[in-house]
Amino acid sequence: MLGQLWVIVALAVSANALFDKNLVYRSPFIGYKEGDPFDDSVLLWTRAVPLPPGPDQSIPVCVSFKIFDNSQLSGGPIDSGEAFTTYDVDFTVKVEAEHLKADTQYWYQFADCTNSNTTSPVGATRTISAPNTPANQVNGGKPLTLAVFSCSQFQNGWFNAYGIAAHNTSADIFIHLGDYIYESLGSGAKIGREVLGRELATVFDYRQRLNQYRTDPGLIDAHLAGPWITVWQDDHEVADQSWKAGTADSNDSTTGCSFSPSGACFTDRKLAGVRAYHEWMPIRQVDVSDKLRIWRNFQIGQLLDLTMLDTRQYDRDITDVSLYIQSFINSIADVQNRTMMGPEQEAWFYNTLSQSKQRGAIWRVVGQQIVFTQLDEFGAFDVDAWDGYRANRNRILDHIHDNQISNVVILSGDSHANWVSDLAHPNDTVNYDPVTGEGSFAVEFAGTAVTSSSPFGNGITPAAADNLSRILVADPLNRDLQWSEASYRGFFTLTIDTEKINATYWAMSNTSFANLDGFPSAEFIVQKGSNKIARPVASGSVKAGVLKASVPANTSVPTSSAAP
Ligand SMILES: *[C@@H]1O[C@H](CO)[C@@H](O)[C@H](O)[C@H]1NC(C)=O
Ligand SMILES: *[C@@H]1O[C@H](CO)[C@@H](O)[C@H](O)[C@H]1NC(C)=O
Ligand SMILES: *[C@@H]1O[C@H](CO)[C@@H](O)[C@H](O)[C@H]1NC(C)=O
Ligand SMILES: *[C@@H]1O[C@H](CO)[C@@H](O)[C@H](O)[C@H]1NC(C)=O
Ligand SMILES: *[C@@H]1O[C@H](CO)[C@@H](O)[C@H](O)[C@H]1NC(C)=O
Ligand SMILES: *[C@@H]1O[C@H](CO)[C@@H](O)[C@H](O)[C@H]1NC(C)=O
Ligand SMILES: *[C@@H]1O[C@H](CO)[C@@H](O)[C@H](O)[C@H]1NC(C)=O
Ligand SMILES: *[C@@H]1O[C@H](CO)[C@@H](O)[C@H](O)[C@H]1NC(C)=O
Ligand SMILES: *[C@@H]1O[C@H](CO)[C@@H](O)[C@H](O)[C@H]1NC(C)=O
Repeated sequence: MLGQLWVIVALAVSANALFDKNLVYRSPFIGYKEGDPFDDSVLLWTRAVPLPPGPDQSIPVCVSFKIFDNSQLSGGPIDSGEAFTTYDVDFTVKVEAEHLKADTQYWYQFADCTNSNTTSPVGATRTISAPNTPANQVNGGKPLTLAVFSCSQFQNGWFNAYGIAAHNTSADIFIHLGDYIYESLGSGAKIGREVLGRELATVFDYRQRLNQYRTDPGLIDAHLAGPWITVWQDDHEVADQSWKAGTADSNDSTTGCSFSPSGACFTDRKLAGVRAYHEWMPIRQVDVSDKLRIWRNFQIGQLLDLTMLDTRQYDRDITDVSLYIQSFINSIADVQNRTMMGPEQEAWFYNTLSQSKQRGAIWRVVGQQIVFTQLDEFGAFDVDAWDGYRANRNRILDHIHDNQISNVVILSGDSHANWVSDLAHPNDTVNYDPVTGEGSFAVEFAGTAVTSSSPFGNGITPAAADNLSRILVADPLNRDLQWSEASYRGFFTLTIDTEKINATYWAMSNTSFANLDGFPSAEFIVQKGSNKIARPVASGSVKAGVLKASVPANTSVPTSSAAP
C-alpha cells in the first residue's frame, strides 16, 4: 500500500524531470553470472533530476525507456519499461533492456513517464555474441574493436581521447581500466577545467565529481556511441595508492582512520567511492553477497574471453602508501603469499583462463589496472605495480606457461605512459630472446593516460621523453619491453580477428582544449599462436616513442639519481 502511494506522488511531480543531456549511456550485459550468456540484454543508464523549483528530495521520479533496432526509433520498440529513481541514488537510473538479439546494434531513449516530450538524447548500443558463436562469425564476421582507456584526470586536460575513439575509430566496445575520476583537486583553471568541491571523501563528494566529469564533450560522445565495460577502479576512484585497507593520503598501513580533510576513516571513504561508482557507471553488481566484487568475464563468441580483474580495491595486500614504506614493500615483494587480487579472485582468474582454453576461445584478453611486466625505471621498480607483487606475478606467468595457455593479451593502465612488451619470466636470459621474441608466452599492451601527466614530467616534449625511453628499452632488466613512449596522452584500440590482434596506439595532439586532433603513433600485431609481438616490431617504424630494436642493447643505464 505504501508503494502505491509513492507511485501516485511520483507521477504528480515527475513532469519536472530534467534529463541531463550529458548523462545517457548504456553498457552490455555487465553482470557476471557463471554460465549465463551475455548476448540478449544490455544495461541502460541515465539520470533524471527534478527541475528547480524541484519537489522534495524524498520524492521519486518515474522514467520510461524504449529500445529500437534502428536509429530513427521507428516501428515498435524491441523492449520498453519504466523505473523509479530518487535522491537516495542521486537520481541515477539503470534498467536492463531484454529480449535482444545477439551481436546486434540498438538505439535507445529515456523519457519522463508523465510527459513523453521530455526525453533524453538517443544512445547507441549493442549486444555481444553468444558464447558458442563460431569465431569467424563474431561481429558479423568483421574484426571486433575495443577502445582502451585509463587515467582521465579532469584538471589535467580535455578528454579528447574519448572523442577520437568515438568519432575516428571503429570502436565496438569502450573499455576503461581505472582512474575514470580522480579524488584530488588541482590547478585546472588555466585550461577551463577547475574541479568542483574538495578532495573526495563522502558520497556527496564522489557524486559531484562524477557529475562534473560527465560534462566533457569527448566523454559524452563516447558514452552515447557504444557499450562500456569498466573496472571500477584503479586507486583514484577512491584515493591515491589505495589497497584493501588504506591509502597514501592517510599513511594507512593497517587500520586507516586518519584522512584529515573529512575525518573519514578509509573504510567509509572507500564505501562512499564504491557506492557513487555503482550509481554512476553502467556496471552491475556481480554478486549481491560480495558487494566489492567487479571481477568478471565476458565470453564473446569463440573469438575471445574478455576477463576484467580488480587488482586494486578488492583484496590487495599493502602497497607503497607514500614513499616511506617503498623499501619495505621492496623487501616483501617476493613473499609467496602476498597477493594483488586476493586468493578468491586469483583462483577464479586461473580457472577462467583454463576454461577459456577448454572451450576453444581463440584469444584471452585480460583487462586490469597495473603494468604487469618488470619495468626498471632508472634504478627503481614501481612497487605499487606488479613489481611489488612478484610472487603473485610469477604464479600467473607459471599458470599460463605450465598449462600452455596460448594467446593471452594483458591490458594495463595506471602508469600514464605506453609500454608494449613480450611476456616471459622476468630476467629470463636463457629461454627468452628479446630480438626474435622466441620464448615469450604472452604479450602486454599498457596504455598511456587519457590526460594524467607523464611519469617523465607533465608536458614533457616528445624529444625529451624519447631520450629517457631510449634508456629504458635498452635496460637489460627490461628485456621484455619492446616499445616505450611517454610524451603523448591518448588511448589504444585492439582490433581482434581469428588470425591476429592489431593494437593501434593513438596520440592526442593537444589536450589543453577540446579537439579531435591526433594520430596513430604505432601499430603492433600479434599473430595467433605466436604469443609475442610480431617481428619486426611495429613493422620497424613508429611515429612516436622508441622501439627496442632501434637502440643498441648496451646503451648505458643510469641509476636512480638520474631519474627525472
Ligand atoms: C508534447 O508535444 C506536442 C507537440 O509539440 C504537444 O502537442 C503536446 O501537448 C505536448 N505534450 C505535453 C504533455 O506537453
Ligand atoms: C607518513 O608516515 C611517515 C613515517 O611515519 C612520516 O614520515 C610522514 O610524514 C607521514 N606522512 C603523512 C602525510 O602523514
Ligand atoms: C604470509 O605468510 C607469512 C609467513 O608465513 C605470515 O606472517 C603472513 O601473515 C602471511 N600473510 C598473509 C597475507 O597471509
Ligand atoms: C631481476 O633482477 C633484478 C636485478 O638483480 C632484481 O632486482 C629483480 O628483483 C629480478 N626480478 C625478479 C622478478 O626476480
Ligand atoms: C636528447 O639527447 C641528445 C643526445 O644526448 C641531446 O643532444 C638532446 O639535446 C636531448 N634532447 C632533449 C630534448 O633532451
Ligand atoms: C591496424 O589497424 C589500424 C587501425 O584500424 C589500421 O589502420 C592498420 O592498417 C592496421 N595495421 C595492420 C598491420 O594491419
Ligand atoms: C596547445 O594549445 C594551447 C591552446 O591553444 C596552446 O597555448 C599550446 O601552445 C598548445 N600546445 C602545444 C604543445 O601545441
Ligand atoms: C576525426 O573526425 C573529425 C570529423 O568527425 C575530424 O574533424 C577530425 O579531424 C578527425 N580526427 C582524426 C584524428 O582523424
Ligand atoms: C655494445 O654492443 C656492441 C654490439 O653488440 C659491442 O660491439 C660493444 O662492444 C658493446 N659495448 C659494450 C660497452 O659492451
